Amino acid sequence: MAIERTFSIIKPDATARNLTGAINAVIEKAGLRIIGQRRVRWSTAQAEKFYEVHKARPFFGDLVRFMTSGPIVVQVLEGEGAIKKYRDVMGVTDPAKAETGTIRKQFAESIERNSVHGSDSPENAAIEIALNFKPEEIVG
Ligand code: RTP
Ligand code: MG
Repeated sequence: MAIERTFSIIKPDATARNLTGAINAVIEKAGLRIIGQRRVRWSTAQAEKFYEVHKARPFFGDLVRFMTSGPIVVQVLEGEGAIKKYRDVMGVTDPAKAETGTIRKQFAESIERNSVHGSDSPENAAIEIALNFKPEEIVG
């Protein structure tokens, strides 16, 4: 496995409950290094662009409303096999089905309000990082 970078979001349900530090502790304990981090509030246009692949899905409108409903923390994570490792640490989309110890099992409220996002492939990780970070904001 190579050293990879992945893109992460701590979603509005988690920032609302002051869980940024608790989630970062799980991330760091898993051996992932937080090499870029910024707290932001997305516009509707930014959320629609980020989730463009889900445009045709029935949950798209709700998802965009949720992701613009409060502050989020965007992050770049680095580590051995970071993309799959972070997906494993997050747990599956629906917290009811997520494994014990995962972020979503511990913290998520529902399939939508599921606390975190993580890139699902090297291609998407590169696209999502470039969309959200300037190179100088990432300090590895
Ligand atoms: P993410 O992209 O946020 O890392 O999550 P994921 O890969 O596990 O899930 P994905 O299928 O890409 O869906 C993106 C986000 O949309 C919301 N969602 N709502 N109401 C629903 O049935 C539903 N399904 C998905 C979740 O916030 C999910 O993370
Ligand atoms: Mg996804």
